[in-house]
Amino acid sequence: MSNVYLNGEYLPLDQAKISVLDRGFLFADGVYEVIPVYGGRLLRMREHMQRLQNSLDAIRLENPLTNTQWLEIAEKLLLDNPNSGPGDDKYVYLQVTRGVAAKRNHGFPDEVNQTVFMMVNEMAPVNKEELRQGVSAITLDDIRWKACHVKSISLLGNILLRQQAHDNGAAEAILINEGLVTEGAASNVFAVIDDVLVTAPMGNRLLPGITRDLILELAAENNINYEERDFTEQELLTASEIWFSSSTKEILPVVELNGKPVANGQSGPIWEKMIDIYQACKAKLRSGETS
Ligand SMILES: Cc1ncc(COP(=O)(O)O)c(C=O)c1O
Repeated sequence: MSNVYLNGEYLPLDQAKISVLDRGFLFADGVYEVIPVYGGRLLRMREHMQRLQNSLDAIRLENPLTNTQWLEIAEKLLLDNPNSGPGDDKYVYLQVTRGVAAKRNHGFPDEVNQTVFMMVNEMAPVNKEELRQGVSAITLDDIRWKACHVKSISLLGNILLRQQAHDNGAAEAILINEGLVTEGAASNVFAVIDDVLVTAPMGNRLLPGITRDLILELAAENNINYEERDFTEQELLTASEIWFSSSTKEILPVVELNGKPVANGQSGPIWEKMIDIYQACKAKLRSGETS
């Protein structure tokens, strides 16, 4: 049984319990982070902590811990939970809610004791050959709210969209907001349009993905032309490459969109280049060369 952290205690998973009056349970009143771990090292911890702070600020909830405390808890859980499967890739999941109030009431309680939870999970090693097979996607109307930059635990819109993709035989949805591509149900979206790597600009329509930012940074360092700009569903349909990015799936080529092949139906040359650069970046982290 894996050990988790809950409100100051390290416990076996089956002993970690919260009240039914927790506002996370009643209202999805909370935020979360998912941080990938390679060779025992957390990828882009600083950036994840900054995004956590931004999400907490957006929902007007105080950060219950310092960045050093967050890191200490993560490192203890990583030591307490060695991988049982192949490889040593993991991810840290953490969640903060507005805690338990005496009564169910939409307004904030007078006194807040945040509920703080963290667990680590194994992540199957990502194999380039498997990634190269790619996935299929469908475009769907983005039915979510106007604060998609907040990493909220309220994921019902994302869940329904992902399930609609699955029901249509696709792995993921590409969301369209007033004609513009925003992101996936649980990923950011990149497209190669006229040989330029394009992704939607930051704003309240999408989550500022840590993997997205890393890809843009790596593109700049490796002379891959890119633009952060609005692009339409029509443009997406003409793209020569489409990718999803996320902390757990890394960079996944989309080979079929709305039942039609993307270009020749295979992963493209810019993806081939970027995935190697990304793997090299992970290797540096494993060896302790970078943080
Ligand atoms: C809606 C959404 N967009 C984008 C992402 C990618 O973010 P990151 O690269 O930080 O994992 C996620 C990750 O879960 C997500 O849920």
